[in-house]
Amino acid sequence: MTLAPLIKLNDGYSIPQLGLGTWPLDDEKVSAAVVRAVEAGYRHIDTAVKYGNEKGVGDGIKASGVDREDLFVTTKLDGEFQGNDRAAEGLDGSLQRLGLDYVDLLLIHWPLPARDEFISTWKTFERLQAAGKVRSIGVSNFKPAHLERLLAETDVVPAVNQIQLSPAITRTAERDFHSRLGIVTESYSPLGGSGGDLLSAPILYQLGEKYEKTPAQVVLRWHIQQGLVTIPKSGNPERMRENLDVFDFALDPLDLAEIAILDEGPGAGNDSDATGH
Ligand code: A2P
Repeated sequence: MTLAPLIKLNDGYSIPQLGLGTWPLDDEKVSAAVVRAVEAGYRHIDTAVKYGNEKGVGDGIKASGVDREDLFVTTKLDGEFQGNDRAAEGLDGSLQRLGLDYVDLLLIHWPLPARDEFISTWKTFERLQAAGKVRSIGVSNFKPAHLERLLAETDVVPAVNQIQLSPAITRTAERDFHSRLGIVTESYSPLGGSGGDLLSAPILYQLGEKYEKTPAQVVLRWHIQQGLVTIPKSGNPERMRENLDVFDFALDPLDLAEIAILDEGPGAGNDSDATGH
């Protein structure tokens, strides 16, 4: 059984470098998926209030029999829970649905800058962390400008920024910014997302032939080699195993250069000044 290596966070905790993304699996499907994922060696599960599947994730964790301490669980609070103390209530609801007494990582799902509530929300996150209801705190979909403001006005540097990232959406400036601050970059939609066509790129197929791997494994290896944490989603146990089986080969610099032709440039991907929930 493969276990993903651990990446150290800026608060002393560690995160398994590869986890299971769970959107858009519903409660029933995600519960079965979590059981199969744990069997396959996954120890990191990513959910969010907005996915509407925290109860199923919790049921799956319980049914898997894995020790709580061996598992890394992330959830995210969306706009409904931003502003002053609302995050405290939000986290209580998540913990109840998950059947847990802490989560390993709590994220602000979107910055929603027009609402201007992420600073007070973050201060609540800092208190929730001090109270032990969450080990690590972080953000998602934050741009460097949002992070700059957060750092200027609050005390705790986010452990993680989870952003849309793949060989097509490389976010290199954002990643450099995170590295300078000690923030781990976590890639969501690492395979190009549900309904995406990234995996049909011929170069991924060609590199897969070279290493006897699939296009998805080549893409995940690309994330891993760059020190990114990544959360490919699959409800299919065969693909889950495939996606975790990326720690026994290495892409060489020429391969990485070839994959770089898939980069759609700095403007690619979602714009969190204009979108979010
Ligand atoms: P499925 O859940 O049916 O396996 P992302 O992680 O970038 O959001 O991508 C998720 C999409 O990629 C889902 O449609 C998922 O489908 C599909 N997917 C996940 N793993 C693989 C794989 N190993 N090969 C092909 N497609 C995959």
